[in-house]
Amino acid sequence: MSVNLGAFNAVNLGKLLRRSLEPVAYRFDSAFVKPSNITLSLTNRCNLRCPTCAYWKTPNEAKDTELTLEEMVRLLGQLREWLGPFMLGLTGGEPFLRPEIFDLLDEAARLGISTTTVNNGSLLPPRRIERLKQTPIHLVSFSLNHLDPERHDETRGVAGSAQKIFDAIDQLNYPGRQFRITLSTLLMGTTIDHLPDMVRWVRDKELDGITFQILYFESGNDDYVPGWYKSSPFWDDDADKINRGMDTLIGLKRQGLPISNSIAQMEAMRGYLLDPEGPQTVPCKVGVANMDIEPDGAVRLCDVMEAVGNVREAHPRDIWESALAAERRRQIHGCGAACRIKTCNFRQPVFSLVKGQLFPP
Ligand SMILES: C[S@@+](CC[C@H](N)C(=O)[O-])C[C@H]1O[C@@H](n2cnc3c(N)ncnc32)[C@H](O)[C@@H]1O
Ligand code: SF4
Ligand code: SF4
Repeated sequence: MSVNLGAFNAVNLGKLLRRSLEPVAYRFDSAFVKPSNITLSLTNRCNLRCPTCAYWKTPNEAKDTELTLEEMVRLLGQLREWLGPFMLGLTGGEPFLRPEIFDLLDEAARLGISTTTVNNGSLLPPRRIERLKQTPIHLVSFSLNHLDPERHDETRGVAGSAQKIFDAIDQLNYPGRQFRITLSTLLMGTTIDHLPDMVRWVRDKELDGITFQILYFESGNDDYVPGWYKSSPFWDDDADKINRGMDTLIGLKRQGLPISNSIAQMEAMRGYLLDPEGPQTVPCKVGVANMDIEPDGAVRLCDVMEAVGNVREAHPRDIWESALAAERRRQIHGCGAACRIKTCNFRQPVFSLVKGQLFPP
């Protein structure tokens, strides 16, 4: 196992400092710690049709309300000045529906901001792959749910989606590449038996990791419907199957295979798959950690609760420290929902974060 001494960079040290102070901020619902998990959603529109997601239902006219490149560049400058070097996640909808993404990534690098993006792999033809290879980015993640193309495409609602990911990965995964390539994969009862094969595939392809995400209520839909999972074609609550699947995945993680989730999160995921609406055992800390900036500039701490401001009207720091944000933190503190276990919301134990940085899988 090799030690990654580059982990001691300003981005990671800043994040670790914030993460260490989070428990105190959480205890008092305070804004004194700056956010450590910042995402910018470039669009809510999407070209695929995933049955588990509502973003693709966004009308095309929503385009007119999206932040322009100039507005996003101004926002990056404000964030950089406030936070110092940090990691910015670009998401959507489908982020590659915005051609400006390449200029935005260039600008982020110029400002000393590290970037990651998660995408569906369908908008990266060879010409764009070549552009991406020239673009300074820390990590590109592909959302792949099954190695069997038909099974993956069922989760995406469009035939041919898996093949486009395989093609994109083949072209991007060249020796000496300077960015990380990972998979983002839904952890579902119906596919849990297959996931160990995906972990081994990631290892054999020499990709940088696989991150599991629990299947939750429709992404992009704020109106939670209790019991939704009972009618989901991807839900299987066979306890033996879930326990066997989770035991195998945790075993692979212990053996050093490249699973990015911590064992603590994987145990929480097991509990969720067995009892998705049961009592929560971990706190939700999004109020002191997350800043989600939406395509129209709205800022949310919890991605399903109301916004606390808009970067078109105020500096992100003032939004973070606002009375409305304080009110939202109290609301978050009283929430009992399970989406705290989602990878975007779960707080990995600090020691596992340090270990993951120092000894990358
Ligand atoms: C909303 S998408 C946005 C980025 C891009 N369009 C993509 O699919 O990678 C982000 C992630 O959400 C996941 N996702 C979709 N439906 C979900 C659900 N119901 N619960 C949890 N994650 C979901 C996708 O598989 C994807 O990895
Ligand atoms: S999960 Fe991603 S690819 Fe699928 S519809 Fe939602 S935004 Fe689009
Ligand atoms: S658990 Fe956290 S992320 Fe989920 S709805 Fe509640 S406050 Fe929001």
